[in-house]
Amino acid sequence: MAHTSALLSHNTEDILKTLRQQFTLDDKSLFNITATFLREVSDGLANYGHPMAMIPTFVRAVPDGTETGTFLALDLGGTNLRVCEVTLHGDQTFSLRQQKYKVSEALKTGEVTSLFDYLADSVDAFLTESGSPSTAVPPSLSRSTTQAPHSGTFVDDGSDTQVPLALTFSFPVEQTALDSGRLLTWTKGFAAKNAVGKDVVKLLQDAFDRKHIHVKCVALVNDTVGALLSRAYTSGGCILGAIFGTGTNGAYVEDVANITKLGNDPAAAQGGPMIVNTEWGGFNNTRSSLPSTPYDNKLDRESINPRYQAFEKFISGMYLGEIARNVLLSFVDAAPKPLLFGGRATEGLNKQWGLDTAILSEIAEAWEGLGRFAPPAQSNGKADEEERLQRVRGVVVQRLAFASDEVSLADADIVRQVCTLVVDRAARLSACAVAAVLVQTGRAHLSESGQETEGLQDAGKRIGVGVDGSLVEFYPNFQTKLRASLRVLVGAEVESRVDIGMAKDGSGAGAALCALVAQKQNQALQQRGGYEHDPKYAPSKLRTEEGVAYITSMQS
Ligand code: GLC
Repeated sequence: MAHTSALLSHNTEDILKTLRQQFTLDDKSLFNITATFLREVSDGLANYGHPMAMIPTFVRAVPDGTETGTFLALDLGGTNLRVCEVTLHGDQTFSLRQQKYKVSEALKTGEVTSLFDYLADSVDAFLTESGSPSTAVPPSLSRSTTQAPHSGTFVDDGSDTQVPLALTFSFPVEQTALDSGRLLTWTKGFAAKNAVGKDVVKLLQDAFDRKHIHVKCVALVNDTVGALLSRAYTSGGCILGAIFGTGTNGAYVEDVANITKLGNDPAAAQGGPMIVNTEWGGFNNTRSSLPSTPYDNKLDRESINPRYQAFEKFISGMYLGEIARNVLLSFVDAAPKPLLFGGRATEGLNKQWGLDTAILSEIAEAWEGLGRFAPPAQSNGKADEEERLQRVRGVVVQRLAFASDEVSLADADIVRQVCTLVVDRAARLSACAVAAVLVQTGRAHLSESGQETEGLQDAGKRIGVGVDGSLVEFYPNFQTKLRASLRVLVGAEVESRVDIGMAKDGSGAGAALCALVAQKQNQALQQRGGYEHDPKYAPSKLRTEEGVAYITSMQS
């Protein structure tokens, strides 16, 4: 393995070449990684306590776009805390009104009750600021409002004024029911004390109750599940919801029979499908297959959770900027002669997490001439390389706070190449996860097996994948890069049938849909009495009675 010290004896080109070798994943590595991924999927489905947790969500149905209702959702786990009111219109569209709140480092790492008090206060503030009762206020806040037939929450029956809320909590939570689950571990820089092992719905409910806020948490959902549900709602079918944002993770529709760790749980006896939250960010924590470089090792060692979330640390927005920063600093520090910025570094570049992944997106946009760097409509012809590098140089100067004469075009070129290598690797690894889900669900074979398309599940049909997150939304061509590797892994025929679409605001809409499932299940239970996992009251009944469709796959 090449070490950072290799910089001592090479010129810039040679060092970039070495770096390329370290960061470029050949096709053989992609197949190996995907095969390891599939083994860990099987382990996680068979046993509890596996780092790739493969969490059964108890969500057994996906929507078909006809669902209606207005729901309150609270979303913790991305860059911001969001409170939103989501209205499902029943025609595959929804509208959303939201407020974002910052979560300080102190809250992320302090006592868990402070964090949940803050969540409860944010919901309270949102409800208080909801405005006039005309359109914006949830019906439940206006006590005279009656509920439309088949509409969703905010039920005001005159006796109980609690506003139902769905919690999108994007951390590994071992779910025990639709509305309860125990935090397994924190990820993405959160480390609030006395939370691990606790039921997060209870933590939130306790905070509401402590503060006499009349809100009831009725559903708990991971953002990946939200992405899957909302994409199914808006497009009519979806088998995988994936986040490529601050963190990375995927949830997919699995056959309950394959979730063997459910053992005697009544859910197992019911059979049928169930959404599984893979927590793939924890794939290969041993790093036996992942291509660690010294820059990755440094990041991991200095992170809040060393040796955990290995896959996430190669892919997600929280970490890509930091990997690039580590590489760039090794160029700055190269001896006997610095190779970048004349050996200078700015405060941002010197500080851990000081290089935001958003800057990588901007650098790529500047290079490609996209976004705010797009050429005016009347211009023809491509900018030459120097012009493109000038734009990159501008971003580096501005975003890393260099003086203009401290950054040369050669520096800009190094920065651009480094950032591209880091993101290309992330996109290729992301493809391994998507390919593994396709193989696991019988929709693809790994192309190296030579099986082509024989005996595939849903052969010839479209395969819906909902994605969300800053990386896939803002990094230019991330999806194109991912697809290129997916094609290598599963072959062109299957890849061409994969419809990857944004599940924008999936956390909000997906939470609303989950609250709807919870509400329908509760109504069914109240009407008949019974136990949530009793087959008699299984969500499959909801299809006919309540308009929630069973798992659907898209027709070609
Ligand atoms: C982290 C969390 C996971 C979440 C993902 C994307 O990996 O552990 O639950 O889905 O980030 O936000």
